Amino acid sequence: MATRTAIYSKILQKSSNFGTRSMSSWWSHVEPAPKDPILGVTEAFLADTSPEKVNVGVGAYRDDNGKPVVLECVREAERRIAGNQNMEYLPMGGSVKMVDETLKLAYGENSDLIKEKRIAAVQALSGTGACRLFADFQKRFRPESQIYIPVPTWSNHHNIWRDAQVPQRTFHYYHPETKGLDFASLIDDVKNAPNGSFFLLHACAHNPTGVDPTEEQWKEISYQMKVKGHFPFFDMAYQGFASGDPERDAKSIRIFLEDGHLIGCAQSYAKNMGLYGQRVGCLSVLCDDEKQAVAVKSQLQQIARPMYSNPPVHGALMVSTILSSPDLKELWLKEVKVMADRIIGMRTALKENLEKLGSPLSWEHITEQIGMFCYSGMTPEQVDRLRSEYHIYMTRNGRISMAGVTTGNVGYLANAINEVTKSA
Ligand SMILES: Cc1ncc(COP(=O)(O)O)c(C=O)c1O
Repeated sequence: MATRTAIYSKILQKSSNFGTRSMSSWWSHVEPAPKDPILGVTEAFLADTSPEKVNVGVGAYRDDNGKPVVLECVREAERRIAGNQNMEYLPMGGSVKMVDETLKLAYGENSDLIKEKRIAAVQALSGTGACRLFADFQKRFRPESQIYIPVPTWSNHHNIWRDAQVPQRTFHYYHPETKGLDFASLIDDVKNAPNGSFFLLHACAHNPTGVDPTEEQWKEISYQMKVKGHFPFFDMAYQGFASGDPERDAKSIRIFLEDGHLIGCAQSYAKNMGLYGQRVGCLSVLCDDEKQAVAVKSQLQQIARPMYSNPPVHGALMVSTILSSPDLKELWLKEVKVMADRIIGMRTALKENLEKLGSPLSWEHITEQIGMFCYSGMTPEQVDRLRSEYHIYMTRNGRISMAGVTTGNVGYLANAINEVTKSA
């Protein structure tokens, strides 16, 4: 009988036949992944020991003391569900009650499309998960298709469609000189894309630019997309955060629905309910009829099954409790408005401070842009100076998260911005 040592040396010999790799170095070829441009900012901020440091990098709401906020409607929903809930699995498509309430926010309280059961919808792992589920669905059932993504966009959009192996194209969106929408080029891109292309649109509060089309511009975009038979996919991560009114922020989607588009939509409760870490969202795909919607939903579930089987229960229960209780829904609507209004107030304060300091530049765009972010127009070098000289942290594209601006830091921030930009 062979001894253990003999067997071991035989195995070693065999493994060396597979090349130079030894049994203990399976992952020696793995290089560290590049830092996420957004999450890397938080890491650097946390490592900074200066008492003056300011984080305007991350897209999470803060109150006027710079503290994270848990909405009162969420606290109350937690009290109501505490102890009443079992820990069973949700179905693959998630909480039906949560999904039903979520569809009403996007498609309208009395939407015929909902009544006709034409919408295939599943609970998703927040907005990111909804986008990813859709990207995988697109790849599986429209394998020849591409996705047109605005320039710029939330950086994770690129990762999501890349990992789903959907080829990406871009379309014009932001105009660096006007710091507004490059509408003419956008429309040209819509017209020049092959018929039946997929377009990713931010429903409101575009990230990172804070630039949204006007109602009239949305109508034109919808019309041109209809002419070309394009598929509009709406990422709605900030419903309520732009104007303070979720109904108003869904206007872009409603315009497309009126024009008879079949759309896809990703919704998230991260920002507008402050449920960031709960990962509650929804993916919906509007279909021709109920039969198609049933088929599409079953396929979305089929994609979810080997990835995470079924979505988490707690956040979904909070959302459905809030949206189905008239008193909590009313409270939520008030609280969303408070958040949006504080951000709008900080935009005005930042602009006024810059003007008072005699900045030679125009800062009109700070108040013209909308939602959580201000695309300041600062260069990567200016952003680097803000970090090294003033301990102010933001992404190198010059995006300021207005949610991180407070009465206490707005003067300091304005002064620093003025210093690094005045000689530009
Ligand atoms: C445009 C956009 N889409 C989707 C998301 C996804 O957020 P979450 O997955 O936390 O819902 C974000 C978050 O920053 C975003 O800005």
